[in-house]
Amino acid sequence: LKEKKEVNVLCLGLDNSGKTTIINQLKPSNLSLYGPLSDDWKHVSQVKVSTAYFTLFYYLFLIHLSYCLTVCVLFVYVYYRPRHNTLSQLFKSSSLSFTVFDMSGQSRYRNLWEHYYKESHAIIFVIDSGDKLRMVVAKEELDTLLNHQDICSRRMPVLFFANKSDLREALSSVKVSQLLCLENIKDKPWHICASNAVKGEGLQEGVDWLQDHIR
Ligand code: GTP
Repeated sequence: LKEKKEVNVLCLGLDNSGKTTIINQLKPSNLSLYGPLSDDWKHVSQVKVSTAYFTLFYYLFLIHLSYCLTVCVLFVYVYYRPRHNTLSQLFKSSSLSFTVFDMSGQSRYRNLWEHYYKESHAIIFVIDSGDKLRMVVAKEELDTLLNHQDICSRRMPVLFFANKSDLREALSSVKVSQLLCLENIKDKPWHICASNAVKGEGLQEGVDWLQDHIR
């Protein structure tokens, strides 16, 4: 069997733009982000069942310790690590295996994005098309991204989702494209789709485009 090419896709955008909602719509429902954790808990309960009285306190202490450690590790994991989904089944490609990194869009975590640029092959940039006030901030973040040394020299495809198109006040994808000056992107293939991530509308068009442009 031919090995599938591993492809990393970074999902970026301001907080509340809809990145996680988009990825959750696309990923198969049987995938759990916290899969390994439930195994840990199974292990803990097995230990508990097998304890004898004289070791009870010892095991309780260990369980307590592992519980505290698990909580600490989880805390670090949730706050400092990007959410990481294997989405191979989402993309209808036989030769590529996709991993999507769902990065936090909150301002205090945006400086983490750049650590993933080198390893990524494509970018999904999500914009809340109903949030006219923060369109300028989205443009600033996009410009910073496109001018980064690990991005500007590469011909990686960039897919834009003008998300929340269902909102009454939402701007059209053409308008979003104008406000972000996307026509100035000359050295990379890019594409913009209007999407409603809650209903899953517009997502497949974008994913199909991305798949066709990853080399
Ligand atoms: P951060 O993790 O903070 O970076 O946010 P995010 O970009 O992952 O946003 P998230 O997917 O958590 O969505 C934020 C809110 O917007 C949620 O309440 C979603 O239900 C809502 N939302 C996402 N997509 C849409 C959409 O297409 N239409 C509407 N009306 N709401 C949406």
